[in-house]
Amino acid sequence: MTVTLCPWTPADLELLRSLVTDPSVSPQFDPFQGPLGLEHKLQDPRLAQRGLRLAFVDGEPAGFGLAWTLDNPGRRWFMIRVAVLERFRRRGVGRRLAEAVLAFAETERAGEPADVATSAWLPNDAAEAFASSLGLTHERWFWLMERPRGARLEPGWPVGIETRDFDGSERMLREWTDIYNDSFAQHYRFVRSGVEVARAIVADPTFRPDGLRLAYRGGACVGFCRNELHAGRGEIGTLGVGHAARGLGLGRALLRWGVLWLEANTPAPVTLLVDGENENALGLYRSEGFAITRTRRIWGRPAAPR
Ligand SMILES: CC(C)(COP(=O)(O)OP(=O)(O)OC[C@H]1O[C@@H](n2cnc3c(N)ncnc32)[C@H](O)[C@@H]1OP(=O)(O)O)[C@@H](O)C(=O)NCCC(=O)NCCS
Repeated sequence: MTVTLCPWTPADLELLRSLVTDPSVSPQFDPFQGPLGLEHKLQDPRLAQRGLRLAFVDGEPAGFGLAWTLDNPGRRWFMIRVAVLERFRRRGVGRRLAEAVLAFAETERAGEPADVATSAWLPNDAAEAFASSLGLTHERWFWLMERPRGARLEPGWPVGIETRDFDGSERMLREWTDIYNDSFAQHYRFVRSGVEVARAIVADPTFRPDGLRLAYRGGACVGFCRNELHAGRGEIGTLGVGHAARGLGLGRALLRWGVLWLEANTPAPVTLLVDGENENALGLYRSEGFAITRTRRIWGRPAAPR
């Protein structure tokens, strides 16, 4: 058996699609599914296309590995993911892919400390063992939560709040970026966002301007909700309220707006993904009828000294 690894190039788009949509891989890569799912993921400026690797066994496509480069001032981290088609498993292909992606990350970190993490939906005994074989240990649980459709709850915007759909302007891109950074600064593995990331999101073929709502108070942007339409679900993609506007009921109102928008725009289940240690958010989602349906596990390892 000969295993060959190659860097991915845009000419391999359909080959990568055939790997990511293989039934033995697709449940672990759900946002990559659907007609534009792969394009949607590749549009993410943090998904390092230069680090993407394809594996072939005796010339047949067998798997892929990829990394997101997540920059924080003074500390980077890499989220890596590996997949091998079922018929090629337990032959060291996954390990070879992981090593290649980690070697890419090592070059990219350019002397800076960098953590490595990976994640998978559970149950997944292979991923558990695989992560452990790479020296990664448990870091966090994330929950996928779903809300039964149909119980309409109107937003009831707090007094003094006015809301606007995204209008495509540079000004709104900046407001959205700033309120994202303000809302998430204290979060697990927070990565500061820049206007270029916001620009890439709105250039994504699956982005819907009317699915991004910004909330203002006294002319200042104080919160936002962005919905995402995936192949199998409609998701409250990101919801944030800045520190200055917490405790007013704005998070609940934005969430209700998001649920109504998703129900009007897709027949798929309405979901969201939440950090299992984000008690405030969990409390809000539970009180709005969301319940946990799937578990995602994150494993990590701190930066190795250089
Ligand atoms: C996880 C996955 C990538 C492993 O690929 P693979 O090519 O079978 O892995 P390897 O043969 O290189 O195994 C490397 C090590 O991982 C561990 N491992 C992998 N699969 C395992 C399994 N099913 N049971 C027990 N240990 C396993 C072993 O320690 C193995 O080393 P060993 O064979 O010397 O004992 C593959 O099962 C897969 O694609 N799953 C679906 C996608 C997925 O879950 N990705 C998330 C990965 S974090």
